Amino acid sequence: MFRSGAILGLLLLLSSETFAAVPPDLARCGSAKLEAIAQACSDLLGIEARFRNRGNEGERERRREGVRRRVVAAWAEAESFAGDATCAERTARGPDAVDALAALAEEVLAEVTPPRCAARLGRLARRHCRRLVNVEALALVSAQKADEARTRVVAQARRRLSLRWPGQGCSPGAEPDDALRRVLTLAGGAAAQASPRGLRELGDAVGVPVGVSIEPFEVAADPDYLPTLRRETGSLTAENAMKWAPIHPAPGQWNFGPADAVMDLAEEEGMRVRGHALVWGALSVPAYVEAASGPEQLRAYLAEHITGVVDRYAGRIAQWDVVNEPLSAILDPPTSDGLDDNVFQRLLGTAYIAEAFHLARAADPTVRLFLNENGIAAPGPRQDLFYDLVVDLLVQGVPIDGIGFQGHVGLTPLAVYPDRATWEASLRRFADLGLDVEITELDVSVLFRFGSSRPPLRAQADDYRAAFGACLRVPRCRGVTTWGISDRYTWVRSFLGLPDDPLPFDDGWIPKPAYFAMRGSLYERLYTGP
Ligand code: G3I
Repeated sequence: MFRSGAILGLLLLLSSETFAAVPPDLARCGSAKLEAIAQACSDLLGIEARFRNRGNEGERERRREGVRRRVVAAWAEAESFAGDATCAERTARGPDAVDALAALAEEVLAEVTPPRCAARLGRLARRHCRRLVNVEALALVSAQKADEARTRVVAQARRRLSLRWPGQGCSPGAEPDDALRRVLTLAGGAAAQASPRGLRELGDAVGVPVGVSIEPFEVAADPDYLPTLRRETGSLTAENAMKWAPIHPAPGQWNFGPADAVMDLAEEEGMRVRGHALVWGALSVPAYVEAASGPEQLRAYLAEHITGVVDRYAGRIAQWDVVNEPLSAILDPPTSDGLDDNVFQRLLGTAYIAEAFHLARAADPTVRLFLNENGIAAPGPRQDLFYDLVVDLLVQGVPIDGIGFQGHVGLTPLAVYPDRATWEASLRRFADLGLDVEITELDVSVLFRFGSSRPPLRAQADDYRAAFGACLRVPRCRGVTTWGISDRYTWVRSFLGLPDDPLPFDDGWIPKPAYFAMRGSLYERLYTGP
């Protein structure tokens, strides 16, 4: 039964807990979302009234589907202009808000018998539910105005129901107030659908972890960093701590501290870890390795390094970038065979790649072994060269489990911004080899996007949506990791020295349109399925 105290308590809860005045951005976003859920309440009641009693389950579900899609579209739009992640903290859990509301509508009407009474109440309640939930949107700007409006709307509902709900022959509670209580329950349920969904929860819901690369000392030094990671990521990559030079600076000498810090943080937070990178010939090679006397000494160095690192984290790391960037760096002069001119390639040829993978596999039989490259998101000679290298390695029996598409969009190569279809075709091309694929280092430069008719941050959001949307459509795409999460710490500024803003959060930890594009992609997949 519906006790009036419960309803009143619910509205008081809404008025005290949820409706303090909020920043304009949040109010705009939150009210747009509430408006959508308000309309959904009316639509669902209409569907319930019309189809519940006809036993036409298929038609009812079809129409509910339409309501869900309208809400998802309205919320994605609201989020994209919100510019404020706390919008998610005030409003409902995306698509399942509609499902929760549909279940509530069903429950509220189910107890009204006979069915014609339930149908009638459903029709009558539509208008009132919509108006009450929209009052809650007003509360996002003024708690007092909302209270006044709510009182007015409830009084009007009570008057109308007393005129149009003579519930003779209906049970339970044929009184208008009983009908009103049911309407308020629905409105409260719609407005109270407030449960944040950061990228972590959304990623977990669709089974595609959203990852971030970190430097542990940056996380430790910035109080805003960890709370954002907790909400927005389910996977960590060590940006530098697990590379050869920092972790193994001399034969027999190890510096596991920073790498252990990444592992410990991930395990404390229940996050996945991508290991990066066991061998990167172009950078992060310690002097002793560069000075190897010949192939045998280099093989010995490889064995000591890979075995030492992989063994330490065996069973704790989900994936290793065993070899990073075997191709000639895009920013370097091209080599004759397109492969990176480094000490491994010079002394061992491409056999160093195979040896690295076999050593990693021997040290940890369970970890997924990836070959990670940049500049392969779009078709062309570079992607073809890399594809041929991968096929060659697979034919040799090299235990490659996956391909990492770094995704430094707009940087490597310069000013190239793949759309979703391009990303999807590239991911599928390698997935069709029976491999997992991941986008492992996504960021989108705003410096080199020429000729776009859209404002830079909007275009950047489109590029994030393209990459995320593509991965979410390719079944073997196992995750998307951004290379950092806040512009404040991007490698593009520190390593390239460019004034770029390539990440989903700005220097002040405010989410950018790119963040909401990522959320929108995840909502879309969550709802529309693979
Ligand atoms: O830690 C030392 C510090 O002790 C020293 O004082 C300082 C000055 O030399 O250098 C510090 O190390 C730097 C390190 O970043 C940590 O800040 C290295 O010099 C610098 O080369 C290194 O840059 C990293 C770069 O890879 C090269 O390893 C970037 O942070 C990192 O974002 C970047 O990431 C790579 C991926 O691993 C592979 N894909 C491309 C991507 C971007 O280049």
